[in-house]
Amino acid sequence: MKSFRDKRRDGRPHPARAEQSRLHEASPAGRQQAAPAERRETRPADRQEAKPAPRVLARREGTLPAERLPLILEVAPNADYALLDSGAGAKLEQYGPYRIVRPEGQAIWQRALPAKEWERADAIFTGDTDEEGIGRWRFPKSPLGETWPMKHDGIDYLGRFTSFRHVGVFPEQASHWDHMAGLIAAAKRPVKVLNLFGYTGLASLVAARAGAEVTHVDASKKAIGWARENQEMAGLADKPIRWIVEDAVKFAEREERRGSRYDIVLFDPPAYGRGPKGEVWQLFEGLPGLTDLCRSILTPKPLAVVLTAYSIRASFFAIHALMRDTFAGMGGTVESGELIIREKSAGRALSTSLFSRWVA
Ligand SMILES: C[S@@+](CC[C@H](N)C(=O)[O-])C[C@H]1O[C@@H](n2cnc3c(N)ncnc32)[C@H](O)[C@@H]1O
Repeated sequence: MKSFRDKRRDGRPHPARAEQSRLHEASPAGRQQAAPAERRETRPADRQEAKPAPRVLARREGTLPAERLPLILEVAPNADYALLDSGAGAKLEQYGPYRIVRPEGQAIWQRALPAKEWERADAIFTGDTDEEGIGRWRFPKSPLGETWPMKHDGIDYLGRFTSFRHVGVFPEQASHWDHMAGLIAAAKRPVKVLNLFGYTGLASLVAARAGAEVTHVDASKKAIGWARENQEMAGLADKPIRWIVEDAVKFAEREERRGSRYDIVLFDPPAYGRGPKGEVWQLFEGLPGLTDLCRSILTPKPLAVVLTAYSIRASFFAIHALMRDTFAGMGGTVESGELIIREKSAGRALSTSLFSRWVA
């Protein structure tokens, strides 16, 4: 039986699965078996499974990095984004100009704001239709376009109503972005950042603006397209960002063989995903190998490796132990905990994900 925690971790939408479900829908054979977008383990029968050979892992020698935990990284309400209220299985958020209501399985408490505040929403994710894209959203005031202007700390980008309930950004990740930008600025030397599973590219844009040379990898062509649009929107088109449509593991393996090295690696893998050639990504199977790979593609003077994990049946202690073991002999500190968003109405903390990061 799944625990409460498991269910809670299942709460975040999976863009990869949404993308796959779109691919799946394209084929009539697939359509018959199409699973609801939020179901785990969607395995389209019409796509070949391609599993890379598992990496042979040996326990790393050396002293374990120091540890700091639990570390709770918090996003407070701000001018660009605010969790306005939550409760009764939903959350009310302000994304730039729009007030948005989405389901939130963790919000098992009561709403603090009166109903009239919730009724002022510009968009509500219903998810109760078979439609793709914007069809799963309801706009009570007036129909809205698919995208809208957003900002993070002065970086312009596009919010986006997608077929999944996500909106093109995971605001809780801002804690990592700010930390990373600080490391890049403090390094006072050229810094190379690898952003695996990079999605719409906010982390890549923050890193590029801070002065890093960035490689952004995602399996979804569509997500890469959105990320490029965001780069234009942010006025960062002249910054060195390589946008790569590729399976994250394959890409990292290739970088290891080629001797390409990075000072910072970010990886935010979904619980389940597929590479562009149908490569299967399963978090529990793949994470130890990918974490090890991330270590082996670091420069001799690396700055950090940041792992975020949504939708997994684990506590942050599990990814903490994995990271600490993997970075044995490298010094530094492994910090682990949760990314939370602080609610404006009653100050409750909404937990979104687990993280573990090694910092030199
Ligand atoms: C949860 S999102 C990452 C969110 C991002 N870090 C952020 O903060 O905005 C997961 C991303 O992983 C991508 N993905 C899924 N499977 C993949 C794979 N095998 N290789 C590379 N990317 C993959 C999806 O397309 C999706 O964009």
